[in-house]
Amino acid sequence: MNPRSASQIRQEFIDYFVKKCGHVFVPSSPCVPVDDPTLMFTNAGMNQFKPYFLGTEKATTPRVANTQKCIRAGGKHNDLDDVGHDTYHHTFFEMLGNWSFGDYFKKEAITWAWDLLTNVWGVDKTRLHATYFQGDPAEGLEPDSEAAELWRTVTDINPSHIHPGNKKDNFWEMGDTGPCGPCSEIHIDLTPDKSGRDLVNKGDARVMEIWNLVFIQFNRGSDSKLTPLPAKHVDTGMGFERITAVLQGKKSNYDTDVFTPIFATIQGVTGAPTYTGLLESDSQNQTDRSAVMKDIAYRVIADHLRTLTFAITDRAMPSNEGRGYVLRRILRRAVRYGRQYLGTREPFVCKLVPPVAECMGAAFPELKKNPQRVAEIVRDEETSFIKTLDR
Ligand code: SER
Repeated sequence: MNPRSASQIRQEFIDYFVKKCGHVFVPSSPCVPVDDPTLMFTNAGMNQFKPYFLGTEKATTPRVANTQKCIRAGGKHNDLDDVGHDTYHHTFFEMLGNWSFGDYFKKEAITWAWDLLTNVWGVDKTRLHATYFQGDPAEGLEPDSEAAELWRTVTDINPSHIHPGNKKDNFWEMGDTGPCGPCSEIHIDLTPDKSGRDLVNKGDARVMEIWNLVFIQFNRGSDSKLTPLPAKHVDTGMGFERITAVLQGKKSNYDTDVFTPIFATIQGVTGAPTYTGLLESDSQNQTDRSAVMKDIAYRVIADHLRTLTFAITDRAMPSNEGRGYVLRRILRRAVRYGRQYLGTREPFVCKLVPPVAECMGAAFPELKKNPQRVAEIVRDEETSFIKTLDR
């Protein structure tokens, strides 16, 4: 059987929660937050639902699901430096999520996540690990033994694959303030002999987090204090590019059909040698080194191009401060990598914008409205940066 395409995976996630578990589909909110000065970019699917968690607004429906456009560059969750060098970090990514606003809680969230992964998608159970919050006395937080017990009772996970985790990994917060709570993460062990249990939460691509189930129960105030919320909520987020790599049997997110069409376009526009997926760990001699740097450049450019295309479509602008400055740095990083490792001299990122809009426009129709406007903004920014490099 052919592996599922990325767009099938996105749709199957949404269908599972809408058709099987009574959720309502809501479109992604913009990746530039509409009305939240605490955030530079939308960094998680739950951002648009913050008022429901805090109880300042009432949700019109208690269960929703979607895929959310997220940018993690600048701010609390910042993956920029890893991008290009590894197989699974991005500045722009999609987060598949399901939410309960004061409705179902831990039991359903864990049961459904396990059912979708193992029964619907057929992920090998013996490769999956789950974590739960071990508590934090300094914060006055108890261990989440309820989640640990649920993993043991409502799923058939190997009990030795259930691990406690500390506040850094298992207590999720959207920023310095805001809704938060203990979380239970699902990790996949991709080592050939399934020996990766000690690599859970060690930042190793061989054992990768794929889904985070957050049990929102507190608000972190500006005085750093945790206050219990009026109701308990669920906020889950699964990395779309990561689950696509898992289901397509690929070693890297960049080997999936989320990225291969973009690489083909980069090659068409720059005339660079074909992308072969090398990593720094493959570098053995001088020849290899330049091939490795070429592949890092492909990954950097593909990732940054997506961030710029989505952010500018959602009305952000490169500039000298805040969010705009993050975008400017991202564009400049892409231009530098292109120049140094793919031999580009002229503006090229702007030429890649319309193909990305075309490729992702079915899932995100806003990209198709005016890709030329986005391309022109990128072109102007690129042109003036290249002038400074040429001086
Ligand atoms: N908010 C959580 C995260 O971003 C789960 O969606 O990981």
